Amino acid sequence: MAKDKVSMELRPNPKSGRYRLISGNWKMNLNHLEAIQTVQKLFFLLKPQDYSYSEISIHPPFTDLRPIQLLIDSDKMRFTLGAQNCHFEPSGAFTGEISAPMLAKLNVSYVIVGHSERRAYFAESDEVVRAKVEAVFRSQMTPIICVGESYQERQDGLTSDRLHSQVDSAVSFLSPELASRCVVAYEPIWAIGKGAAADPKDAQEGASIIRSIFEELWGNSVSSKVRIQYGGSVNPSNAKEFMDLPDIDGLLVGGAALDPDAFARIIQA
Ligand code: 13P
Repeated sequence: MAKDKVSMELRPNPKSGRYRLISGNWKMNLNHLEAIQTVQKLFFLLKPQDYSYSEISIHPPFTDLRPIQLLIDSDKMRFTLGAQNCHFEPSGAFTGEISAPMLAKLNVSYVIVGHSERRAYFAESDEVVRAKVEAVFRSQMTPIICVGESYQERQDGLTSDRLHSQVDSAVSFLSPELASRCVVAYEPIWAIGKGAAADPKDAQEGASIIRSIFEELWGNSVSSKVRIQYGGSVNPSNAKEFMDLPDIDGLLVGGAALDPDAFARIIQA
């Protein structure tokens, strides 16, 4: 029987009632031919039941989106297409940029917004992140809003302040309905691409601060629905520890998502 015929329904986490989301952020890696091979390999490594635990989104570079979209559609793969960024205007004289409506037209469902690499290397301010969150929702997609403190901010005891200012600025203008649909990725900058992930205790603390900000803004009916991912040096050995945390609903995986074997083992963990 074809894989899709026996695959099971996506089930929410029985403890939280929230749907888990595991996302692979490829960053600026893999051309469109490598991308096709990587997704095909991942598909063949996963068993039907692997799709019932978490939704799996793949965020390749822009040039890979169309071929991956066609592959997912033609082989009926249960992967959700994601992007890594977008511009906040729908169209216009913004040379080199890609808009949210363009991504929506390619069946993109999730757009990463405010990744720390974009904040650091492309001077993305909290105001720009806010405008992108709005643009993504305007195109009926869901933002994965990345927040996290630097090593210095953590040393100075500023983690909670930093998370408050980033989250507040990115979401406070939303209606309760849109706010509850947000995905927030807690990515402590000091744990990204270092091979040394955050302690699960620190990840839970960061996620619980983020959830409490939604609670302060809209109350429990919204904060209990918001999904929070952990990101930063996730690998097959540490993925389960993070997924078991009460306020963590998924993972945003960088380096390990480029290797289909490692990403499949993370999904299966
Ligand atoms: P790594 O998993 O390579 O640490 O990257 C994390 C990340 O930035 C995902 O967005």
